[in-house]
Amino acid sequence: MTTPLILVNLKAYAEGMGERAVAIADTAETVSEESGVVIGVAPAFTDLAAIASRFSVPVYAQHVDGVAPGAYTGHVTAGQVKAAGATGTLINHSERRLTLADIDASLSAARSAGLKSVICTNNEATTAAAAALAPDYVAIEPPELIGTGVSVSRADPGIIERSVAAVQEVNPKVKVLTGAGISTGECVKIALELGTDGVLLASSVVKAKDPAAVLRNLVSLI
Ligand code: G3P
Repeated sequence: MTTPLILVNLKAYAEGMGERAVAIADTAETVSEESGVVIGVAPAFTDLAAIASRFSVPVYAQHVDGVAPGAYTGHVTAGQVKAAGATGTLINHSERRLTLADIDASLSAARSAGLKSVICTNNEATTAAAAALAPDYVAIEPPELIGTGVSVSRADPGIIERSVAAVQEVNPKVKVLTGAGISTGECVKIALELGTDGVLLASSVVKAKDPAAVLRNLVSLI
């Protein structure tokens, strides 16, 4: 199915772990089937296998380390998350920043393991740099808007436009997501109209009393 990607990052929210993570993934699958829009989830490592084994939605890890299997206590390899059932992984999320060399290593590891890659960025310059590494996606998220409920689509559409243009110039094969404060179908519509291929979001769904209602709203104008 080729549609925009709505990727829900469960972060380390209490409301996005354990049974609640499973419930959100279940809801994502239901709304995806109803709407025909691809809705993925990025759970904590501890919930990844349980979710990937039960649902057909794309499941992304929130991070992988750029190391091969071996003596790396406390690390998470791309092979481990692939074996747990992941479709892909975030890399360099604003809350899990890496050096450029680490981003490159994580991306190589993801690629070798057959994982889709989403490199997160904070402005158009880092978006261009990330696109040069040729991930599947870059995800531009202004850090100051993350978790605020103030949508990047409305508060800073220029950064989306400039990031899309930067990726087009560097490597047009790379798809672009945007995120921060995305909470409604209108936010998603604006992001898509500005040239993105989808959105990366968290709190509006994870912290919602009724995640299904929020997800239905998010896909309503696609
Ligand atoms: O990874 C998505 C994220 O950083 C945006 O968070 O809560 O603003 O949707 P939120």
